[in-house]
Amino acid sequence: MTSRCRLQVLWTLYLIVYNAFCLRLTELKIEEHTLVGNSTRLECKYDLQGEKLYTVKWYKDGNEFYRFLPGESPEVQVFDVTGVHVDEKQSTAESVVLRPLELASSGKYRCEVSAEAPSFQTVTNHSSMLTVAPPDEGPRISGGQDRYKPGDTVNVNCTSGRSKPAVQLAWYINGEQVNSSYLRGPYTDYVGREGLMVTTLGLKFEAGMQHFRLPGSGGHLQHRNRLDRDMKLKCVATLGTVYWKSKEQSALAHRPRPVPGLPLPAADDGLVGGDEQDADSRADPVHASSNSPSMNIAQSLNINEIAVYVSASLFIVLLR
Ligand SMILES: *[C@@H]1O[C@H](CO)[C@@H](O)[C@H](O)[C@H]1NC(C)=O
Ligand SMILES: *[C@@H]1O[C@H](CO)[C@@H](O)[C@H](O)[C@H]1NC(C)=O
Ligand SMILES: *[C@@H]1O[C@H](CO)[C@@H](O)[C@H](O)[C@H]1NC(C)=O
Ligand SMILES: *[C@@H]1O[C@H](CO)[C@@H](O)[C@H](O)[C@H]1NC(C)=O
Repeated sequence: MTSRCRLQVLWTLYLIVYNAFCLRLTELKIEEHTLVGNSTRLECKYDLQGEKLYTVKWYKDGNEFYRFLPGESPEVQVFDVTGVHVDEKQSTAESVVLRPLELASSGKYRCEVSAEAPSFQTVTNHSSMLTVAPPDEGPRISGGQDRYKPGDTVNVNCTSGRSKPAVQLAWYINGEQVNSSYLRGPYTDYVGREGLMVTTLGLKFEAGMQHFRLPGSGGHLQHRNRLDRDMKLKCVATLGTVYWKSKEQSALAHRPRPVPGLPLPAADDGLVGGDEQDADSRADPVHASSNSPSMNIAQSLNINEIAVYVSASLFIVLLR
């Protein structure tokens, strides 16, 4: 064996032994999105592999705010860093609780674990957290009219509540995301000192037959007559993974005016809720006149004005 080779063998052995006692970070858990006013636990787990713990240090954007020194008195030291409020009672050698969170809590958090002498091994990892201020209210739909005829221009805005960062808005017509050629904006306005943002997304298109749903194709039945066609405009606001809120506006096509040669439907007020069972048990006067429902709709739309009943409902879902 040459001495060069012997060195290599020794080096390999050293690496095996060294790695066997290698301090490791096993898990760094930092929520990607957190909410203003809420709390969060930053977790940093490690495997000492027989070494003795010297310190655990936490940094935000390079500034140390928490130090854990086992056996020292005090064991925990906290340093002032903008946007960081450590809940010392809840914090340990493996996790730090921040409470309350504010917009300035957003940043890059780093955990650094060091072993005792003689190795003084240090391992570190980092991850970013974005603290968001969710919109203070749901999106609002404005500019809508009560009635539209085919050929009318639908021109509405969806405006979000104040938030940071800006929410993303999306428009849906009858549950389908709209063609981007229908969209105007988004426009973002800054309000207040904290840089909260209000976003507006316009929706502008020419109402066509295809935008009105056939009766019985779903939707809110409360104010619908079974002969009404409707268009449901929905605006969805999204912010990171924590916020999802939508506003729906339902545009109902009123029942047709009496069509010559067809019987008059029983109820003439489109706002009176239709009786679904009744619809099942009785022949629909309009549909009965043709084998092709779509042809039928086209006919009645040509003869009759399409009116729109606007109803708004709010769905609130929090995604995590
Ligand atoms: C608020 O913080 C708690 C504790 O960290 C967490 O369990 C909860 O999911 C948070 N709530 C929201 C809405 O993020
Ligand atoms: C650092 O943390 C990230 C998750 O935040 C993880 O995917 C990555 O594997 C970690 N790297 C090390 C060297 O621990
Ligand atoms: C929608 O909002 C934009 C920007 O604020 C405004 O210029 C426009 O007039 C609004 N349109 C309607 C229909 O309200
Ligand atoms: C959007 O509308 C434009 C014009 O009406 C059309 O050319 C385009 O194909 C549409 N895009 C989609 C994805 O439907």
